[in-house]
Amino acid sequence: RAEALVDAFRRPITYLRVSVTDRCNLRCVYCMPEAGLPWIPKPEILDYEEIAAIIRAAASIGVRSIRLTGGEPLIRCDLERLVALIAAIPGIDDIALSTNGLLLADQAAALRAAGLRRVNVSLDTLHDDRFTAIARRPGLSRVLAGIDAALAEGLGPVKLNCVLMRGVNDDELEAFAEMTRTRAVHVRFIEVMPVHDNVALQRDAWISSDEVLERLGALGALHAVPNPHGNGPARTFAYDGVPGTVGVISPLAHDYCETCNRVRLSADGRLKLCLFGDHLIDLRTPLRAGGGEAAIVALLRAAMHVKPERHHLALGETASAMRAFSEIGG
Ligand code: GTP
Ligand code: 5AD
Ligand code: SF4
Repeated sequence: RAEALVDAFRRPITYLRVSVTDRCNLRCVYCMPEAGLPWIPKPEILDYEEIAAIIRAAASIGVRSIRLTGGEPLIRCDLERLVALIAAIPGIDDIALSTNGLLLADQAAALRAAGLRRVNVSLDTLHDDRFTAIARRPGLSRVLAGIDAALAEGLGPVKLNCVLMRGVNDDELEAFAEMTRTRAVHVRFIEVMPVHDNVALQRDAWISSDEVLERLGALGALHAVPNPHGNGPARTFAYDGVPGTVGVISPLAHDYCETCNRVRLSADGRLKLCLFGDHLIDLRTPLRAGGGEAAIVALLRAAMHVKPERHHLALGETASAMRAFSEIGG
């Protein structure tokens, strides 16, 4: 058996986040400019066979969990075909998807049938007009239909990602918490993270997850529970006797670098070793040069010496290497 992937700081790397496109059908204010971004040219985007080849190499050395991200992954054609390719790879035991939910109602059944296990859906507000202001496109009712479809298809545990912003949507914290009392949804409040042009938002609207936990605690006794079927950094809690959970993701107030278990693959085939930073390894060139699985395995192993111990980002700073999460799926 091949030796598992372990980085220079003795962290086992078992989770690969795969961005399948940098494009998106929304323009969330914290993520990208209204006009969009200079998209990656189509010929540079990995095809599904290339993505599967990289995942096969990663799985041969211990990667167990795959999460498909974007941009918005569901705008890529026939995504269920990629899910089926991944589901057939020995060693992969968890395939998840992070989506904005707009196209989820249409695709949930096909994705489930292809082998998708669970979805995390972005949901920042429960008000229609506010959704349109935050996402700069309408669509709340379609997202809610997508969440219902995911629950109905058993694509769970269904997690909701809410980027909480002071003066924008933080007055909805209680309503989101309330949802977990009646529905098996897992709401996670995310601190706004710095990307290229959201510096003003960072300055004006950033809320510490410590404050979020205080406000959640004021609503009722909370106890810590494990992140339901998760590989990510959320700290998770529940009110007594309710079906859902609430959680926080706090890369700035309390980072989780010490237990980092993941690396990322961009849609154009670069391995990104930390969400915040310039540590990139090109896998596409060797793959297209015919290097095969052995070449990818060697590069993944080499990457373990390059993965940084932690990010050094402070509130208000910008991660220079990253134009937006849409480039790497968050
Ligand atoms: P689970 O496996 O269900 O726990 O999912 P996840 O939390 O790993 O995935 P999701 O795509 O839902 O991510 C939720 C938030 O966590 C997003 O805003 C991500 O950007 C953020 N996140 C995930 N991994 C990292 C990381 O390594 N560093 C930072 N700063 N944020 C991360
Ligand atoms: N800060 C925090 N979260 C972000 N996301 C996208 N951009 C940012 C940002 N700048 C979230 C999305 C999605 C998840 C994958 O990342 O809302 O839920
Ligand atoms: Fe919004 Fe996600 Fe699209 Fe960025 S990639 S604009 S966060 S839906």
